Amino acid sequence: MKRYRAAVIGLGWMGLLYDLAERTADRFEIDDVNRPTPPLDIHRRTLAHRHPGDEGLPNSAAEALWIRPDIELIAGADRDRKRLDAFSERYGIQTVYTDAEEMLRRELPEIVAVCTNTKYRAHFTCLAVECGAKGIFTEKPMAHTLEEADRMVKTCADAGVPLSCGGITTTHPSFARARELVRSGAIGKLLSIDTYGPCAQHQNWMYFLESRPVWVVGGGDPPRRESGTDEFGGDALMFTEDGLVVHFRRGGLMLRLSGERGEIIYDYISAWRLWQDVEAIDGVRRVEMPWPAPNFVPPYGSVYSLADVMDCLAGEMDEPKNSGRRVAAALEVEIAAKLSSAQGGARVDLPLTNRSLGLHYDWFR
Ligand SMILES: NC(=O)c1ccc[n+]([C@@H]2O[C@H](COP(=O)([O-])OP(=O)(O)OC[C@H]3O[C@@H](n4cnc5c(N)ncnc54)[C@H](O)[C@@H]3O)[C@@H](O)[C@H]2O)c1
Repeated sequence: MKRYRAAVIGLGWMGLLYDLAERTADRFEIDDVNRPTPPLDIHRRTLAHRHPGDEGLPNSAAEALWIRPDIELIAGADRDRKRLDAFSERYGIQTVYTDAEEMLRRELPEIVAVCTNTKYRAHFTCLAVECGAKGIFTEKPMAHTLEEADRMVKTCADAGVPLSCGGITTTHPSFARARELVRSGAIGKLLSIDTYGPCAQHQNWMYFLESRPVWVVGGGDPPRRESGTDEFGGDALMFTEDGLVVHFRRGGLMLRLSGERGEIIYDYISAWRLWQDVEAIDGVRRVEMPWPAPNFVPPYGSVYSLADVMDCLAGEMDEPKNSGRRVAAALEVEIAAKLSSAQGGARVDLPLTNRSLGLHYDWFR
């Protein structure tokens, strides 16, 4: 039954700790080996009866791998010895490495979770493929630069390796239902998408595009913030090859899909809602309809990002919902919006030729 051998690189909050403790906000540097780690509830179980309705799924990559019947979790890597010890103690796995490269080369895992900080994502993703990985899921943000994102996408595509880039809301099965509805014409021809920002590290919009982004205009992008990020913070418009427009609007919903005959909205708290135009005695009325299950239930986590990779390996899915290809395209749109804003709102055509362009993120990413 356990057909795939798996390993985690980076046993921090997303790799391991979120299931074992409350996150602390202690400051660290990305290359610190000794990371602030609070006391851990090493053998914690999810006790649904203690918080009914908010039971949640395991958040961490290690737990998501551990609970799958078709996967054997065999190894973990982190530069921080304390975190390796916590991994060994929880899972009874002694195969741990302070050098992730050594782990990949010696253990040759087939499924790899890359949960380091962004800086090492491209390196370990490509090395995992070189060492024979069959499926990879990473944390978000995918990468700093377009060149890194290109390398991840190409390396995985050339080797036929499904790559899912971030345990974000888009990985939830309800997003597949939403896209099915749009494709089946439930709201008529899709005219526009409205969302709070391109936010490539947690974008929900790219999954609904049927053709590639071709140009972007933007404005109001603020300078780099104190937290370290210079992710796009203004308003922008993006057009696709087939004429769809995406509005990136500050203060907007997480996602609004407007069609010729209806509308779908998604928000983290109120989940999915659907309106359709129906013939009434006095003409056409836009009426709210029940959402066909599944609907979104927070929280989300690594479970669904991994599930997409496994479904691809089983031949049941062509590409993870939050695939590297889609996230890389969203990153390019976000950078283009920044460029446009810096040029007073000039039109910026895609693809961008300068692949060394990229984003900075908050200090802890
Ligand atoms: N999907 C989400 O909702 C979500 C939530 C929080 C964080 N994140 C993302 O997850 C990533 C990881 O952050 P985190 O919050 O888990 O915190 P973190 O900084 O605690 O985790 C990173 C871990 O990777 C290890 N690491 C870094 N470089 C390494 C290397 N070269 N070799 C071996 N180990 C290495 C660190 O020692 C650390 O334990 C970040 O990029 C962050 O943006 C995603």
